[in-house]
Amino acid sequence: MIAWTKAIHIAALIVWCAGLLVLPSIYAQRKVLRGPPLHELHRFARAVFINVTSPAAFLTVIAGTALIFLRDVFTVWMAFKLVAVGALAVLHIRQGYVLLAVFEPGRSYAMWRQFLATAGTLGVIGVILWLVLAKPPIETARLPEWLLTPGGLQSLLETIMPMP
Ligand code: HEM
Repeated sequence: MIAWTKAIHIAALIVWCAGLLVLPSIYAQRKVLRGPPLHELHRFARAVFINVTSPAAFLTVIAGTALIFLRDVFTVWMAFKLVAVGALAVLHIRQGYVLLAVFEPGRSYAMWRQFLATAGTLGVIGVILWLVLAKPPIETARLPEWLLTPGGLQSLLETIMPMP
């Protein structure tokens, strides 16, 4: 059961990460195409995002969540991993917004954006893989007090933004 769930998790995350890494290169081709080839590229980009990358992300999260309970991984490195996965989800949503905008008439996708999106995605994936494979023993004593106290975030926010 654990082995199968982990296999599904890993297969799905490979597809998810591959999709996020390939999309900026697809968007970058937009500026050199016109007419039917451009519509074809648009259709292809939508298929990659909607039919492949997004279902793979969903499956990764479902299998990963099941693994937390199957493997009892209630650890600090896992909490940090989930923060990094949150960053990957933000990049995923960003790719969706770019997909909606970049094929509008007169729009393009600059090379620096392609570079930034690819480098950012690679960086976040690297952090996740390091956390999950090295499982660093992060000392809870080094974490701020509000992270260790139930309701600590609320108290912190109330201190930062006092409500009338
Ligand atoms: C909400 C999303 C996710 C959750 C809840 C989650 C949770 C988990 C859990 C509980 C395990 C088992 C850990 C163990 O057996 O010690 C695991 C394994 C793994 N996860 Fe995730 N994960 C998520 C997303 C990701 C992503 C996005 C990546 C990579 C980019 C990733 C990479 C891995 C790898 C490589 C393993 C195998 C580690 C090993 O067997 O030592 N996970 N995940």
